Amino acid sequence: MAAIRNIVILTGAGVSAESGIATFRAADGLWEDHRVEDVATPEGFARDPALVQRFYDARRARLKEVVPNPAHEALARLDAEWPGELLIVTQNVDDLHERAGARRLLHMHGELKSAWCLACDKRSPWSEGLGHAPACPRCDARGQLRPDIVWFGEMPYGMATIDRALMDADLFVSIGTSGAVYPAAGFVQTARYCDARTIELNLEPSQGSASFDESRLGRAGELVPALVDELLSA
Ligand code: APR
Repeated sequence: MAAIRNIVILTGAGVSAESGIATFRAADGLWEDHRVEDVATPEGFARDPALVQRFYDARRARLKEVVPNPAHEALARLDAEWPGELLIVTQNVDDLHERAGARRLLHMHGELKSAWCLACDKRSPWSEGLGHAPACPRCDARGQLRPDIVWFGEMPYGMATIDRALMDADLFVSIGTSGAVYPAAGFVQTARYCDARTIELNLEPSQGSASFDESRLGRAGELVPALVDELLSA
């Protein structure tokens, strides 16, 4: 590959699928059992906070039952060994990238392992349930902790950092995302506009496949280690 120094990687639910975490839009996906507007919007939380807390408590508990897969491990290896700039932007709210060892990581849709206090506006690491209205570790207010998840209609985290990284990127790789949700689905356009090479690794063509210089179809657990080997041996 031409001289590559700065890399941006976008991951979606497909990178965690082989670890056993449900994706969103597959036949048995998360959005099959729940309406997005009921569990992934501020309005849904205001309408039925107990339902929303149960939905995220179940997904947070699931994290204890799954482990990183070869795709997470390969990205952590790239992070450890890549001499240039690297930013892994994940839409996922699981903790598998960090458990594999990734450091240069940004959760643009928030994290299951974080709680956000509506009283003091502070965020705290959190691994248990929120449904029983626990006290905020920072301000002690009770029943004021919400999942630190970016819901539809809310602003994703880190957008200035992401845009800067995309503008400096020589390579943009999108892994395991359907390209159905913006702003993440638009990152490939920004990367192309700034002359980055763009590659998509996905089980099936995504909604944005036509925008990529290259689209490799298959499972992340196979495609990602192969790409990382290619990058580190170049
Ligand atoms: N390897 C590679 N890709 C896979 C694998 C796999 N083993 N399994 C599934 N995929 C692909 C699917 O083909 C699909 O294109 O991963 C993609 C998952 O798409 P979605 O379920 O839509 O998940 P994602 O793109 O991450 O959703 C984006 O939407 O609901 C919101 O906030 C939520 O972050 C999420 C965002």
